[in-house]
Amino acid sequence: MLYESLDIKNGRLTLDGRDLTELAEKYGTPLYVMSERTIRKKCRAYKTALDGIACPDSSAVYASKACSFKAVYKIINEEGLGADVVSPGEIYTAYKAGFPMEKAYFQGNNKTDGDIEFAIKCGVGYFVCDNFEEIDALDEIAAKMNVKQKILLRVTPGIDPHTYDEVATGKVDSKFGVAVETGQALEAAKLALSKKNLDLKGFHCHVGSMVFDSDVFKRAAAVMLGFIKDVKEHTGCEAEILDLGGGYGVKYYEGQGELDIPSNIRELSREIENICQRLGISVPSLRLEPGRSIVADSGVTLYTVGSVKKITGYKNYVSIDGGMTDNPRYALYESKYTVLTANKADKKADFPADLVGRCCESGDIVQPGCLFPDDIGRGDTVAVLTTGAYNYSMASNYNRIGRPAVVVIKEDGSEYIAVERESLDDLIRLDR
Ligand SMILES: Cc1ncc(COP(=O)(O)O)c(C=O)c1O
Repeated sequence: MLYESLDIKNGRLTLDGRDLTELAEKYGTPLYVMSERTIRKKCRAYKTALDGIACPDSSAVYASKACSFKAVYKIINEEGLGADVVSPGEIYTAYKAGFPMEKAYFQGNNKTDGDIEFAIKCGVGYFVCDNFEEIDALDEIAAKMNVKQKILLRVTPGIDPHTYDEVATGKVDSKFGVAVETGQALEAAKLALSKKNLDLKGFHCHVGSMVFDSDVFKRAAAVMLGFIKDVKEHTGCEAEILDLGGGYGVKYYEGQGELDIPSNIRELSREIENICQRLGISVPSLRLEPGRSIVADSGVTLYTVGSVKKITGYKNYVSIDGGMTDNPRYALYESKYTVLTANKADKKADFPADLVGRCCESGDIVQPGCLFPDDIGRGDTVAVLTTGAYNYSMASNYNRIGRPAVVVIKEDGSEYIAVERESLDDLIRLDR
């Protein structure tokens, strides 16, 4: 199977030993199911790798845009990770989950004055400042609120991760951060250092997502460390923290490349140590911000088949009771997924069809070119794998479709509802 957490028992697909068809029957579909064991395993792999490296006091900061609800922040906190948050909504969710906000890093290229004030009130540990205006505004608001706010400065190192344009964020012309190449990053660092109510702790970059090339982070580190040296020479200030963002890729389908993240981190740290020695700067504390690689393969989405349309001589469609509202990633990026028929998991799958959703939109395709058992039909349970990241968090109410529930399987095999299914009344709750 694609992951060790998956198996087939009595012809039915299981996750952590739990029969997924049974869970679909019990909670209804569409349904997100997540494995707590997998999430914890991923957190521990990062933690163990980062604990043992030369960069002092290094840590992983979970990028909660990948999947944000209270139970996730609780698990992340229990595993000792920080949290990257990008909106008042994510901040509030983390806060209400009891997350220690001093371990939160507030990202984003356009924080409003209201966002800034709210984040300071909630005790967010670090702001990752994106631009000149934010530095001015944050200093002013921090002064009014009588705090000295720790910040990192988001810098674009000019690295192309060679993944997808939509998720490549470290290039010079990115909407995020200030560019090293144009000299603006140095100017922004000087501006931040001139502010009485800001405490510049270091620099941040994020080059992109779905990175499998281990060199990408090393190249980013080389540029960032060169920049740290530059800032030191021009201002006397030496960064304590180097945050290289997230982006490690995960396996969505058989045959896709894989990366040994812990050994990649160790290699990266050795490279950082060598470069620092060469440049004559201190080895900074390292932060990594994994999102997808923490939660993606913990999740499976379950659907019920409504119809099978055979357009003779053309193509076939299997229609399900969810779609781009709970998983917009194919519509957005043509993302690939592995699709299985959960209640007929041991049957030969050679009936080709596109898996499509229920929205009034031809582009509502979850995955084209899937293979199903030839007796697939109404009532069968379809499982889309690796949906733990950027599915629930990207879900919408298009066509006034309610978002599915999220069920989490605990390490002891029992399950709980982490997020309730949106009801019809939820959908009209804010209508006047
Ligand atoms: C600033 C930042 N950090 C971390 C991440 C997480 O990336 P991934 O989920 O690919 O690990 C993102 C993703 O967009 C990001 O923008």
